Amino acid sequence: MSEPRWIPVARLEELPLDGTGVTVDVEGIPVALFRAEEKVHALSDTCPHAGASLGAGVHCDGEVTCPAHAMHFALEDGRCTDGLPERVRAFPVRIEASGIVSVGRRRAD
Ligand code: FES
Repeated sequence: MSEPRWIPVARLEELPLDGTGVTVDVEGIPVALFRAEEKVHALSDTCPHAGASLGAGVHCDGEVTCPAHAMHFALEDGRCTDGLPERVRAFPVRIEASGIVSVGRRRAD
């Protein structure tokens, strides 16, 4: 698989550590960022159930809860952890030594 194109979206210290997310624009695509300690996860912001913003949800123990109807999605890969077939796209994340957080996109994204 080819190396993704890395798009800088935030500085690490800007991302909350309180279990809330933020939504950023990645070349016109809304992407939710979630910081868990020194790791950052990036998921498509749009909940596949009814379109709520996952970046407005809270995360805990590796999953985010949709703020609208409480479906849960794994931060690692975007799969629904409620046993349903829905999933959201997970994007690779790179944190540079300077603290810049970048989201990776591949041609098919
Ligand atoms: S919009 Fe996310 S669970 Fe309904």
